[in-house]
Amino acid sequence: MKSSEARSAYNQIFSLLEKHHSWMQETINLIASENVHSPAVREAMQIDFSDRYAEGWPGERVYAGTKYIDEVEILGNDLTKALFRADFADVRPISGVLANLSVLTAFTEPGDRMMCLSIPTGGHISSARHRLWGTAGRVRGLKIQYFKYDEHELNIDVDATIRRIERLRKKGKHIDFFMFGASVFPFPQPLPEIVEVAKGYGAYVNFDAAHVAGLIGTNSFQDPLREGADSMTFSTHKTLPGPQGGCIVAHDQFADRIKRGVFPAMHSNHHLHHVAAKAVVMAEMLAFGKDYSQQIIKNAQTLGQSLAEEGFKVLGEHKGFTKSHVLLIEVADTPLRNGRAVEEKLESANIIINRNLLPWDKRFGRDYIRPGGIRLGTSEMTRLGMKKDEMTQIAEFMRRIVFDQEETQSVAQDVAQFRTKFQKVHYAFDTARDAYEYIKIR
Ligand SMILES: Cc1ncc(COP(=O)(O)O)c(C=O)c1O
Repeated sequence: MKSSEARSAYNQIFSLLEKHHSWMQETINLIASENVHSPAVREAMQIDFSDRYAEGWPGERVYAGTKYIDEVEILGNDLTKALFRADFADVRPISGVLANLSVLTAFTEPGDRMMCLSIPTGGHISSARHRLWGTAGRVRGLKIQYFKYDEHELNIDVDATIRRIERLRKKGKHIDFFMFGASVFPFPQPLPEIVEVAKGYGAYVNFDAAHVAGLIGTNSFQDPLREGADSMTFSTHKTLPGPQGGCIVAHDQFADRIKRGVFPAMHSNHHLHHVAAKAVVMAEMLAFGKDYSQQIIKNAQTLGQSLAEEGFKVLGEHKGFTKSHVLLIEVADTPLRNGRAVEEKLESANIIINRNLLPWDKRFGRDYIRPGGIRLGTSEMTRLGMKKDEMTQIAEFMRRIVFDQEETQSVAQDVAQFRTKFQKVHYAFDTARDAYEYIKIR
């Protein structure tokens, strides 16, 4: 490639980046696994730490030049411990998947057996079987068994799961590791009774709080470390509105093994600018997180109610739709017939959501490409200051697309107009810059 062509591609990259930022300013983003971070988190992410290495633990580094990095990482760990009321925190994992794999590496051997939720019932690919290329099965070599699931309650079926654990044990199939948590679980999971059985057999228990970490940190959902989990892994960019990354908190007696699972087992470079940004978001959450989390949940419940009133089949209605940031909606009976069509149509109207497999989809011959459901989350729009009235308005926009089959262009314009009033991040110390402002430093 000629240097003029390289220059043109280089310019094109920045033009696309700017377009993305402009588009984000006009969209309603309801992706449950995403969020928007504060200008402070953004500032921390563009520092020189991103050019450095600091392998190991503060005070035990394999690299020189880390004196300030060490202090920031220690602050990050201390703030994380305070937020999660934990003895031990490790902010080094560079993603939720690698946080999970670090703990699996620390506490299992290939061939061990793990119990978790299957993907159609909300489980994540990092806990899936070898055949599905799941991290636990394919990378760590674990044999996977599933929790029994109650489709009406949208939760783990405690009695049936305990019966399954005991039946498996009688057949010599002992469960060594329990992975609670999931990618879609609107209601707190029932840990204590299952943990009691698991502990009786000497199993290790981790809670994957990738989605709900912000809610847990602010005591707004459930509290896995007090409900029997040995450790908790999570992403730092979902209900916790930080940089993309991972984190682990645990009881003290597991600290040494977890540290080694993170380094040297699973990480070398641990993306130090993200460590700085994680420290910032933990401070923000300690100061503003309670109000933020409560509003996320209130907004999710209001959105659920408003969508139901607009004719959508929102699951979990008998339990108030959700106790977290997430809503699950069956769309197979709408004019658009499947989650993918709904996702595409809404995107062209500036509303960004995910299609989602429902627990019963396989029985109806549906798959992940054209599932029967969609998943919505309220973390990002709540961060922009939206409340009850805006949730009602969003439900109306969705009805115009999915049921009224209105021209997407006219809804897209209305959505962009609606978004003009919501350009700042809330629940943060410093919010001088707009949430999606394109900041040029070249
Ligand atoms: C339950 C669960 N675990 C792990 C992950 C992976 O997290 P990350 O994308 O940070 O690797 C996700 C991502 O959505 C998730 O939902």
